[in-house]
Amino acid sequence: MNRDYFDQRRGSLKPIDRSGVWRFREYVLDVDPSQIITHPEGATRMYEREGVLFKHEGENPTGSFKDRGMTVAITQAVREGATAVACASTGNTSASAAAYAAQAGLRAIVFIPSGKVATGKLAQTLAYGATCLQVRGDFDAAMKLVLEATRKLGIYLVNSINPFRLEGQKTIVWELLQDLEWNAPDWIVVPAGNLGNTSAFGKALVEARNRGWISKMPRLAAIQAHGANPFYRSFRENFTQRHRVQAETVASAIRIGDPVSFDKAVAAIRATNGVVEEVTDDELMQAKRDIDRMGIGCEPASATTLAGVRKLGLKGTIVCVLTGHLLKDPDAIARGEIIEIDPDLNAVERILASG
Ligand code: F0G
Repeated sequence: MNRDYFDQRRGSLKPIDRSGVWRFREYVLDVDPSQIITHPEGATRMYEREGVLFKHEGENPTGSFKDRGMTVAITQAVREGATAVACASTGNTSASAAAYAAQAGLRAIVFIPSGKVATGKLAQTLAYGATCLQVRGDFDAAMKLVLEATRKLGIYLVNSINPFRLEGQKTIVWELLQDLEWNAPDWIVVPAGNLGNTSAFGKALVEARNRGWISKMPRLAAIQAHGANPFYRSFRENFTQRHRVQAETVASAIRIGDPVSFDKAVAAIRATNGVVEEVTDDELMQAKRDIDRMGIGCEPASATTLAGVRKLGLKGTIVCVLTGHLLKDPDAIARGEIIEIDPDLNAVERILASG
């Protein structure tokens, strides 16, 4: 199947063709189209600002890239006859799992770390009707527990350790290549937490090159927060050993010390001649403020990308993948000043005159 076929589907009105995931269905999941559970998702915008391209995955139905993998995982869960799905999450996976489970009529059980989930994400997860288990511990503890619980209790696991999730997430890369009329960029920059995206992006690029969709291999840059940097530490040692850390960062989405897709992500960095960088909380929050002030906006984890571009001094065509919406984490927003006034024109004039 050639690229023109995907380009034709893009203009179609059918939900599975419009979906930025299922437009590529032959390379995502071998499934009868009637079985597909799609919102639809994907078909996100690409913005160019200050010489950098931003692919905004926060424009997915539940406000993060997770929907791209979840449509595939939930489609597969139904095919396998599951009645309940579960995940551990820093908030976005749980929101997405809850939404797609609701659509499919499945029960969703989510394991979230105590007190560390951003307000918008928790609100969504509850609104979509998931059973919310708040684990006294961090994400890594919640992840261990859900692995055990799903194994012992026969519940379908929808974390990115589930290969069907990654098959869906490959389409972030394919769609951004399509946005660029299949001219491969020099760099694709992605936040790195549990390492599902890094892994999926590597697989997507290798497949795209092997099928002749692109003639040049872009390089991946995976960016971690300094306080949650096990992958960066391993990269610095040429991946000779795997690190685990006690994670702490303002970017709660990527507050992860022991990422599950570690080995696949190493393969992705190697296959793309990629790099791994770390940025401090100050650097990522400054980048977030800048992305917000461009009129685009994103949640803190997503801003590691621009902070990473700056730190690495990247040149050429650069695509930053913004993974989550601005409103996911309203507590992390640098608020402009709110000035309270009487309902009186003089008050308005006085304030505007004072600059
Ligand atoms: N950005 C956002 C907004 C995220 O929610 C996540 C992960 C990442 C980046 C990191 O992606 O794990 O593929 O390396 N969020 C997961 C969750 C852990 O539970 O929502 P990754």
